[in-house]
Amino acid sequence: MIQIRQLSKLFKNGKEDLLVLDNVDLTIDRSDIFGIIGMSGAGKSTLVRCINLLEEPTSGEIIVDGTCVFRELAGEESVRLTGAELLAFRRRIGMIFQSPNLLMQRSVERNIAFPLEIAGVEKTKMQSRVAELMKLVGLSDKARNFPSQLSGGQRQRVSIARAMATMPSVLLCDEPTSALDTLITNQILDLLWDINQEFHTTIVMITHEMEIVKRICNKVAVIDRTKIVDTGEIGQVLLNSSVEITRRLLDGNRSERGNYGIF
Ligand SMILES: Nc1ncnc2c1ncn2[C@@H]1O[C@H](COP(=O)(O)OP(=O)(O)O)[C@@H](O)[C@H]1O
Ligand SMILES: [Mg+2]
Repeated sequence: MIQIRQLSKLFKNGKEDLLVLDNVDLTIDRSDIFGIIGMSGAGKSTLVRCINLLEEPTSGEIIVDGTCVFRELAGEESVRLTGAELLAFRRRIGMIFQSPNLLMQRSVERNIAFPLEIAGVEKTKMQSRVAELMKLVGLSDKARNFPSQLSGGQRQRVSIARAMATMPSVLLCDEPTSALDTLITNQILDLLWDINQEFHTTIVMITHEMEIVKRICNKVAVIDRTKIVDTGEIGQVLLNSSVEITRRLLDGNRSERGNYGIF
């Protein structure tokens, strides 16, 4: 579903260049819930923002669902999606963030309808789709509420419904539960799990917490200072990895929460 080859990203800040991603290779299969874990500043958000071209890569190749969206490699034809093609591509990729970024002047149902309005979906079709989405995220009774009248978890549910409105084949999640407590975090993770099971949506889950990876991911990649240093099936990585940073992320979670999880 997502193939990343030799992806590099260099931020140019005046005279100082900052290499944030260094030759990253990554393959994410259809229907995976793929965790990308690393410490703060490792390059996780930059990586996930390159996938939907919110961030322009410096070099490498990104193929999503059979479409080459970016290529800049020596000796190969350059590709860069733009204009209408880029907009159509973005509709196939949902994204949710730590902060839900809802439109505060719009009700829950009108927030969820927003991407459908932009896509020009006809009104009655839009209404029934919005009703389905509110049911999916468990907010049917909050249709007329405004974001300021919702809890943090409910706001994140609205952003998930909005991201799912155009039925994307991929859902990119950048630390969506980092501002939530453990109980609400688990409810949101369970909702994402249900979405994956029901619609086979490929989910990319960026996090710094191994507990989150353990709860829903089937595969994981560990990113450390610009590079992927470890990757594989979840059980294999958690049980057998000898990579130091992976062990540290596992141990960090244990001491922090006093919880040995399932492994
Ligand atoms: N737009 C930007 N311009 C310059 N540097 C940036 C920009 N965005 C991120 N960075 C830097 O890139 C590095 C990785 O950032 P980020 O991808 O946000 O890491 P993470 O999400 O893993 O915490 C950090 O050192 C950050 O300061
Ligand atoms: Mg980040």
